[in-house]
Amino acid sequence: MPEMGLFEAMYSARALRRLKPDPVPEEIITRVLDAAIRAPSAGNAQNWAFIVVRDAAQRRALGAIYRKASDIAAEIYKARGRPAEMSEEQYRRMMSSGAHLWEHMGDAPVLLVPCLRDRTPPPRETLPPSVQAGYAAELAYERQIRGASIYPAVQNIILACRAFGLGTLITTNHIRCEDEVKAVLGLPVDVSTYALMPIGFPEGKFGPLARKPVAEVAYADRWGVAWPS
Ligand SMILES: Cc1cc2nc3c(=O)[nH]c(=O)nc-3n(C[C@H](O)[C@H](O)[C@H](O)COP(=O)(O)O)c2cc1C
Repeated sequence: MPEMGLFEAMYSARALRRLKPDPVPEEIITRVLDAAIRAPSAGNAQNWAFIVVRDAAQRRALGAIYRKASDIAAEIYKARGRPAEMSEEQYRRMMSSGAHLWEHMGDAPVLLVPCLRDRTPPPRETLPPSVQAGYAAELAYERQIRGASIYPAVQNIILACRAFGLGTLITTNHIRCEDEVKAVLGLPVDVSTYALMPIGFPEGKFGPLARKPVAEVAYADRWGVAWPS
């Protein structure tokens, strides 16, 4: 088991998009997945599945879909422009690293696809009238929290990879072409993908992570009241 402080991992697990083609030992990927499944899920349903793609033809197919989906993402980024909190240099680096991945997603030795099986509420008629009246709201609630049953596992994957010296990041561009991804992976209709994570030994270095400071994003008791006070 690699020895690394939790905070060291959290502060240095940056998005690494340039990865070496060297294979990743299977037992390490299994350990990463074993960390992933320690994550919480709504009702502890654990309705997740993790597809580990190593087959070269499968990786190429997913890489081509990611490439296509990224054309759409590129237009969205262009229209949105640089976020105020990022310097020109930080933005340029993120965009050039992102563009590198558009071309090279399929070259990563492992593509990990975290998925979730739909977990719909019980049929309307089985619920008491008071809940039936708000059934549409219940469906909206389910939709809003759905990702919260897989993204904690994704963060565990990021941290476990960091501990093993593996580079990775969360990407979601492929969801713009999700039907094609589902076909490549042979997913059942009620299973959806939530991320596409290239994993491999990194070309570059880990951390540090630049973020807006706590004082800009945290409030005391209500919106707008400074934290720390
Ligand atoms: C929901 C979500 C979707 C993302 N999708 C993509 C993506 O499709 N492609 C990509 O290159 N990076 C993607 N990222 C990675 C972000 O660009 C990255 O986390 C952010 O720039 C911070 O990078 P850093 O941790 O290295 O500072 C995504 C991140 C999140 C949280």
